[in-house]
Amino acid sequence: MKILLIGSTGQLGSDILRLFEKKHSVVSGGREIFDIRYADEFGNFIKNRFSAVINCAAFLDVPLAEKSVRDPLLMNYYAPMKMAGECRKRNVRFIHFSTDYVFDGKKNSPYIEDDSANPLNVYGMTKYMGERGVLYENPSASVMRVSGLYGKTPSRAKGYNFISLFLDKAGKSEIVDVVGDEILTPTSTRNIARQTLVVLENGVSGIIHSTDEGEVSWHSFAEEIASFMKLKVKVNKTTQAQSAVSRPKYSVLENRKLKDAGLNVMKDWKASLHEFLREVYL
Ligand SMILES: NC(=O)c1ccc[n+]([C@@H]2O[C@H](COP(=O)([O-])OP(=O)(O)OC[C@H]3O[C@@H](n4cnc5c(N)ncnc54)[C@H](OP(=O)(O)O)[C@@H]3O)[C@@H](O)[C@H]2O)c1
Repeated sequence: MKILLIGSTGQLGSDILRLFEKKHSVVSGGREIFDIRYADEFGNFIKNRFSAVINCAAFLDVPLAEKSVRDPLLMNYYAPMKMAGECRKRNVRFIHFSTDYVFDGKKNSPYIEDDSANPLNVYGMTKYMGERGVLYENPSASVMRVSGLYGKTPSRAKGYNFISLFLDKAGKSEIVDVVGDEILTPTSTRNIARQTLVVLENGVSGIIHSTDEGEVSWHSFAEEIASFMKLKVKVNKTTQAQSAVSRPKYSVLENRKLKDAGLNVMKDWKASLHEFLREVYL
């Protein structure tokens, strides 16, 4: 299969590239291959060259999105909608990624795909609009909601991931503050890459929750890192009130659609974390 992968220099895209190029012919890159802010050109760009398009590009700076909505709207809403439509016209599979931040966190038990969204911040709102736009233009598209990503390649938008940032702080200070009232499922990008291949090969469409299994607060996640790495650091529990942007306090996703289809290959968060730490840091 000939696949176009946009956003392959990011944390998720790089793991998708590593896996997919073993089986498929992949044309990939960041904005130098195709800048999604010029999505009106997407039809001319793809012509009839690909049988699938995977979009990992997005506007990811959550605090900056609150200050200026133009690029978040363009990249998280308009561009994926436009790309999805161009793919539908050419009978090309389109896979896109969304976020647990489409939810407000008030449910307090894992969200399934059919639960109502109610984003609390601009990033979450533009990603939600993107989901709706993609599926309106291309009902056969796959929109995979993921959460709290970490992988070997740091986030392009931030330059780090939660684990590398925590380890960096733990190396410099005896006490590290970590928020304790945000519960989610931190998820390995390598696992999502495997799940994406399964979604592509089995033609799963619509909204698809695709996070690792289980749930944990960022504070307990940090404590698990410290314990596994045998660090002496004290992990100090803080609260969201100290953050400028509203975020859901509980955004655990259940991979209900994948489980019902017998296609869920996501793994337990703790096992995935240990595997990652062993491979990258030990
Ligand atoms: N990170 C998380 O914890 C998290 C949580 C939930 C959902 N998600 C979703 O998961 C997806 C992947 O996120 P990620 O963390 O892997 O992001 P990332 O590491 O910041 O990577 C973003 C990618 O998009 C590319 N890009 C940026 N601007 C572009 C543009 N205008 N045109 C084309 N490409 C552009 C970047 O390439 P260059 O900079 O090289 O151009 C990079 O390859 C996104 O849809 C995001 O919303 C992420």
